[in-house]
Amino acid sequence: MEKSVDALYEKQNIDDESLKLLIDADDAEYLQEKARTVRRKYYGSAVYTRGLIEFTNYCKNNCFYCGLRADNKNLQRYRLTKEDILLCCTKGYELGFRTFVLQGGEDMTYSDDEICDIVHEIKSRFTDCAVTLSVGERSFETYKAYREAGTDRYLLRHETADEAHYKKLHPESMSLTNRKRCLFDLKKLGYQVGSGFMVGSPYQTADDLVSDLRFLQKLQPDMIGIGPFLPHSDTPFRDEEKGSLKRCLNLIAILRLMFPYALIPATTALGTIHPMGREMGLKAGANVVMPNLSPTGVRELYSLYDNKICTGEEAAECRECLARRVRSAGFELVTDKGDVKRNLTDIDTRGGK
Ligand code: 5AD
Ligand code: SF4
Ligand code: FES
Repeated sequence: MEKSVDALYEKQNIDDESLKLLIDADDAEYLQEKARTVRRKYYGSAVYTRGLIEFTNYCKNNCFYCGLRADNKNLQRYRLTKEDILLCCTKGYELGFRTFVLQGGEDMTYSDDEICDIVHEIKSRFTDCAVTLSVGERSFETYKAYREAGTDRYLLRHETADEAHYKKLHPESMSLTNRKRCLFDLKKLGYQVGSGFMVGSPYQTADDLVSDLRFLQKLQPDMIGIGPFLPHSDTPFRDEEKGSLKRCLNLIAILRLMFPYALIPATTALGTIHPMGREMGLKAGANVVMPNLSPTGVRELYSLYDNKICTGEEAAECRECLARRVRSAGFELVTDKGDVKRNLTDIDTRGGK
């Protein structure tokens, strides 16, 4: 196993069988240590933070795993207005956020013009900030319009790179082909692109996870978000097993070694599956945290899975709590836009333990 880790460290690549062994490794100390070495080389001890604004929980899709699916009639739906969103940004800016992530279900009631107007307004009011959109699958033209309005980054997880597995997680109306088309369109348009997948989604095999890693090697995303699958009681997957923390942490370390430059969040799902999950994620190679800036009144309603953390806390409380957690893991939360560092010439010298 140490040999595989060393090979991954040297060449950012190993064969499928070795990857599978690492994904299920029980003693991952060496793997994690190497991942930390790489993250330090590229990012020092800096942990970037993104202010997440969950601006609509309406969604036209019906992903079997997600609590926001259109067929979930038990969920009270909400939409934030442009003014609500700008208030979140103002508060976030004061708290030290320099990236705002506007995330929502696939809610077609906001027109392209409305989204562009919101992005444009944020970019003109907060000139030293990045705006990330995460609103699902759209046409090339729409992505182009968002980009021209000033959007810097886009998050769209591929969820699973295996065609047969994709079909088990999504209804007929959705396709992996279109999702991949979206991701490559976003790259073409010059976005910093984030993709990723759930760990332990129903029917997932170790081979599927290898396919996910291979797909990411083709895509070369700037950001890679992974987190455990967690069941939601109002979905067809209500009785399915949750994902494995061990696999998540092993995969974060593997991703860090394969994609040394990547921005990898210690996700809320990781913090939900274990009280120290995000700290563990940082120690395994993650370098981003994404606390919630949405108004507390709607937090609970953005319910992708059950028992989501941080739904009761104000943005400021959450940021302080996170800063403490990041420090306890041996890193430092920074006030920075946090762009990707593709080259070692951009490396961060701060902290540098
Ligand atoms: N468990 C974990 N993650 C989920 N997501 C959606 N539903 C769940 C769930 N039940 C993730 C998906 C999506 C992201 C916004 O949240 O990967 O891309
Ligand atoms: Fe909609 Fe995204 Fe949930 Fe699928 S995962 S139902 S697209 S919010
Ligand atoms: Fe949100 Fe601790 S990180 S309350």
